Amino acid sequence: MTTPKKLYIKTYGCQMNVYDSERMSEALSGEGYVPTDSPDDADMILLNTCHIREKAAEKVYSELGRYKGLKAEKPDLKIGVAGCVAQAEGEEIMRRQPMVDLVVGPQSYHRLPELEAKARSGERALDTDFPEEDKFEHLKSRPKASRGPTAFLTVQEGCDKFCAFCVVPYTRGAEVSRPASRVLDEARDLVERGVREITLLGQNVNAYHGAGTDGDWGLARLIYALADIDGLERIRFTTSHPNDMDDDLIEAHANCSKLMPYLHLPVQAGSDKILKRMNRQHTAESYIKLMERLREARPDLHVSGDFIVGFPEETEEDFQDTLNLIKTVKYGSAFSFKYSPRPGTPAAERPQVPEDEKNDRLQRLQALLSQQQRELQDAMVGREVSVLFEKPGRQAGQMVGKSEYLHAVHVTADGLNPGDLRKVRIINSGPNSLSGVLI
Ligand code: SAH
Ligand code: SF4
Ligand code: F3S
Repeated sequence: MTTPKKLYIKTYGCQMNVYDSERMSEALSGEGYVPTDSPDDADMILLNTCHIREKAAEKVYSELGRYKGLKAEKPDLKIGVAGCVAQAEGEEIMRRQPMVDLVVGPQSYHRLPELEAKARSGERALDTDFPEEDKFEHLKSRPKASRGPTAFLTVQEGCDKFCAFCVVPYTRGAEVSRPASRVLDEARDLVERGVREITLLGQNVNAYHGAGTDGDWGLARLIYALADIDGLERIRFTTSHPNDMDDDLIEAHANCSKLMPYLHLPVQAGSDKILKRMNRQHTAESYIKLMERLREARPDLHVSGDFIVGFPEETEEDFQDTLNLIKTVKYGSAFSFKYSPRPGTPAAERPQVPEDEKNDRLQRLQALLSQQQRELQDAMVGREVSVLFEKPGRQAGQMVGKSEYLHAVHVTADGLNPGDLRKVRIINSGPNSLSGVLI
């Protein structure tokens, strides 16, 4: 028997990259690779990269720099770059980094086995095509290994919205939805392997419009069909765009008990002037109204959002509009970023906000968001939640899981196992998590 080769994958960026890394690992398992947690004993190192902000993209080059010594010691070591930086800068990576053997974009990674063989034979391999064929169909052969209680499942990919700041439409390509039957097959397979909670992924997941048994299905229809799978207890989806939040999906938050009361709905800014320049195609008011409708459907809904500060030509007044929107909506959690000019996007060409201004706004924004987060989290004390336990905690006898609202919850009790779904009374709110007792 030949000894298996070892594959080390390092993943940056969004959850879709996490999912893609799993699929790449599976694709290469067919070529005799087993995963390893350490780059030092790897036969192949694969960086699955993110291009969303400048800092994210720079990480690739500094990480590659670290592997120089390793590659010199082990000439057979193959180094690959995948993901969104590969897509955006593949040729440049090849030019700047002779140590890189393989570059593969997010829409062509089903071709990894051929690319790997090419790299093994001593040639450098680059594939950043947007192929016609469905990559998911070429990635069917999953090993039937058991898995943890939660999983991601990509149902939609790519984006046609072209927000003025964003690289995703360029790195991921046009919006495509997978057929419902494929999604349902994959979900059943995951459930057979121990998964109890599935998070449906898409760059604009609520724009999902996959082929169903009777014409195209929207995301709500897909969620109802998934909810019929025995053993699947929880469904989440991310990330959504406000303009794709249709009536059916709002109603699903009221009608589908397996759909969790947590919604990530980025708004980016609270000033209509800035929203317009961002090409978001909605106003602050329409977003706030939408949130109201969602909370009518599901009064205990926890919402999270994404915010950008210092977008070109954002004034202090515009920024105040963002703070006001946050005060109105009240977020249970949020991600916030300084605007980062990205090559090839329209906003990069506009007059920029000075860096110290951006820093100052980010600080003020984050202070408000963490205050809200803290208040909403503290308000959970005394309440009963359901917790899906995922793994042991740091203390003896402790298990950690997630509430329906996506809070991390610690419980110390005998006989709890990953995958258990239990009622818990919250007794304490810590800096980043809650703790509770079984009911
Ligand atoms: N599809 C999702 C978001 C994808 S990117 C949506 O439409 O909301 C994730 C987040 O990164 C965005 O919501 C935005 O807040 C942030 N982001 C994207 N491009 C950025 C840039 N150039 N600078 C700073 N933040 C950015
Ligand atoms: Fe980027 Fe906008 Fe598309 Fe989201 S909707 S991925 S922010 S272009
Ligand atoms: Fe980054 Fe690409 Fe995801 S740019 S955020 S890895 S879609």
